[in-house]
Amino acid sequence: MTRDTPEDAEDTQDDRPVADGGSDADTAAGADDVALDPWGSSTVSDYRKLFDEFGIEAFDEVLDEVPNPHYLMRRGVIFGHRDYRPVAAAMREGEPFAVLSGFMPTGDPHIGHKLVFDEIIWHQQQGGDAYGLIADLEAHSARGLSWAEIDEHTRNYLLSLLALGFDPEGGTLYRQSTNREVQDLAFELGIEANFSELAAIYDFDGETDVSHMQSVVTQMGDILYPQLEEPKPTVIPVGPDQDPHVRLARDLAARMRYFGVTEAYASFEAGADEHTLIAYAYETLKDSEQREDDSDDPVRCIEAAELLERERDPGATDIEATTLDSTITMLREAGKEPLRPRVRIVDRNATEAAVEAMIEAIDGEKRVYDEHIDAFDLTREEVEELTREVELAHGGYGFLPPSSIYHRFMTGLTGGKMSSSVPASHISLLDDPAEGYEKVKAATTGGRETAELQRELGGEPDDCPVYELYAYLLAGDDDEFAKRVYDECAAGERLCGDCKEQAAKLMQEFLEDHQEKREEWAERLDELDFQFESDRV
Ligand code: TRP
Ligand code: SF4
Repeated sequence: MTRDTPEDAEDTQDDRPVADGGSDADTAAGADDVALDPWGSSTVSDYRKLFDEFGIEAFDEVLDEVPNPHYLMRRGVIFGHRDYRPVAAAMREGEPFAVLSGFMPTGDPHIGHKLVFDEIIWHQQQGGDAYGLIADLEAHSARGLSWAEIDEHTRNYLLSLLALGFDPEGGTLYRQSTNREVQDLAFELGIEANFSELAAIYDFDGETDVSHMQSVVTQMGDILYPQLEEPKPTVIPVGPDQDPHVRLARDLAARMRYFGVTEAYASFEAGADEHTLIAYAYETLKDSEQREDDSDDPVRCIEAAELLERERDPGATDIEATTLDSTITMLREAGKEPLRPRVRIVDRNATEAAVEAMIEAIDGEKRVYDEHIDAFDLTREEVEELTREVELAHGGYGFLPPSSIYHRFMTGLTGGKMSSSVPASHISLLDDPAEGYEKVKAATTGGRETAELQRELGGEPDDCPVYELYAYLLAGDDDEFAKRVYDECAAGERLCGDCKEQAAKLMQEFLEDHQEKREEWAERLDELDFQFESDRV
């Protein structure tokens, strides 16, 4: 058992917020920063920062591309994504795709986990290969849970996932500790990552135990596992605290590839910024007036160097002076070599046979250099496809970078963040329905001091944990109902007492129904190919 940081004290175990509230429910807390720490207590006070600082994209922008989007998508609970387009495209076109998420069995599953369960199930219903995994190795190494505790929680997570509609026959359930393929894949992926990198991403240091690090590569194995048989778009639905894992998995997926594909204009290697400058020079010169007469003459490197020298401050403005200098030097050295757009294939991990096959596979004009191959008559997409085909034919994985979607953290019922270690702040899927009812009745609201004022000013549904319950769970697929609650509240037509009574009843019904289904599944667990009792002690 290990703890990495002093902050990671006893009582914060699994103290992550589980979903979030309305847009700025927790800005009041004052903390203005965004911390994405998979094992700490992540806080997100400003979701926009995730877009600017971490490059997560707004889900709104892909919503139109998703056939029959889930209500969590329609209502902005799923607020962000990385690279979801290929998944949406596969869904539209009936092509293979997968969904996978994992759960650390550190406590009871609660309504925050339900968001992720629903996301997996929905993608499964849209035709995806669905995977739900129990991160027991992670729970043991990063949280120090015993195997007996882990087994108990594992069963509870799976019962809820099944009760909510996961189809185990069409999908895959596993625990990390018994999945040999995941661990083998993790081992291979670990070759591409080193300690300094993990230290930078996760704040690991000399005290971090090795098994915790191993649980990170295991998660990388999890994330790429759906692509083991064949590459396919894969979405990982998670909270934004897991984004560091997603970014690392996307990097590792690329590093495992046999070939990298880039674009270039000349035989030498240029960095991304240098490439931008060369592209600028090439496009400017190609179309310039003085060339029009003898347009058969190729644009030469030296001309591009001279152009950049003349302009010093070319269109691409935020490029540094040193880059400009190095680009000019490169172009000068290449002298009379013509600039010609081409697609470049760089050997990363390819076997010799694969390199030979790659050269063979390129149609049209091509040039073979020591470090790369240039194709002149193919588009980048065509080359990407070829490299994947050749890689697969020669024993590689051909991974596509995994995609992700992110849901908001839910506000605690008592205000502040929802936390597994504060029972009153959340509703466990195992809570007695009567207790669930009581918790909702006792919840904080976005209501005014008096009924009088509420009628006059309206309530504040955007800052109301009860409204969140409606939007995230109780209204289900019924957008009209969710909207009615919102509008009535904002207009002062809805008072908190009645509103909570209605929500509390719905919660009670939900829990009754859910627990009935759990019990049905409890009778059928032996149908599953799953080891509920760990061999470990
Ligand atoms: N690290 C995740 C958590 O803290 C659990 C997890 C393990 C996971 N493997 C995964 C999540 C793969 C998504 C995908 O809960
Ligand atoms: Fe929240 Fe309902 Fe009160 Fe509005 S009326 S503030 S939604 S509890």
